[in-house]
Amino acid sequence: DLIYVLNGPNLNLLGTREPAIYGADTLDDIAGMLEDRARDLDLEIDLRQSNHEGHLVDWLHEAQARGAKAVLLNAGAFTHTSIALHDAIKAIRTPVIEVHLSNPHTREDFRHVSFVGRAAKGTVAGFGATSYMLALDAAARF
Ligand code: DQA
Repeated sequence: DLIYVLNGPNLNLLGTREPAIYGADTLDDIAGMLEDRARDLDLEIDLRQSNHEGHLVDWLHEAQARGAKAVLLNAGAFTHTSIALHDAIKAIRTPVIEVHLSNPHTREDFRHVSFVGRAAKGTVAGFGATSYMLALDAAARF
């Protein structure tokens, strides 16, 4: 089964971006860890990153069209702003798991609202790169 792992704005800079908050792992490191775990779970990973909201909307539609089993979505700051992502998640039948490296609830007030979380099946946040691994394990059980 196929799992989409979609990453939003600024996540291309992981590794050097505010490492005290987001950790030292790069997105490539996370991709490698996910691929290792996916092999054990007999899953295939399609991991992408974009700084553009519309790309993420298109990829959510594509995940359904390709029959993906689930989407792991770290929408970055679009989490807190994007009705378009909220609506795209609602528009597809493919289950979406919201993922965050940090725990937005312990941070600035503007991170306390999640339009992604309102539409997602569930959320994993606050465990750094491990958030993605836990979300993958959840998706494997769908
Ligand atoms: C993030 C949390 C968001 O608030 C922030 O805008 C990000 C990263 C996380 O993974 O912790 O870009 O999604």
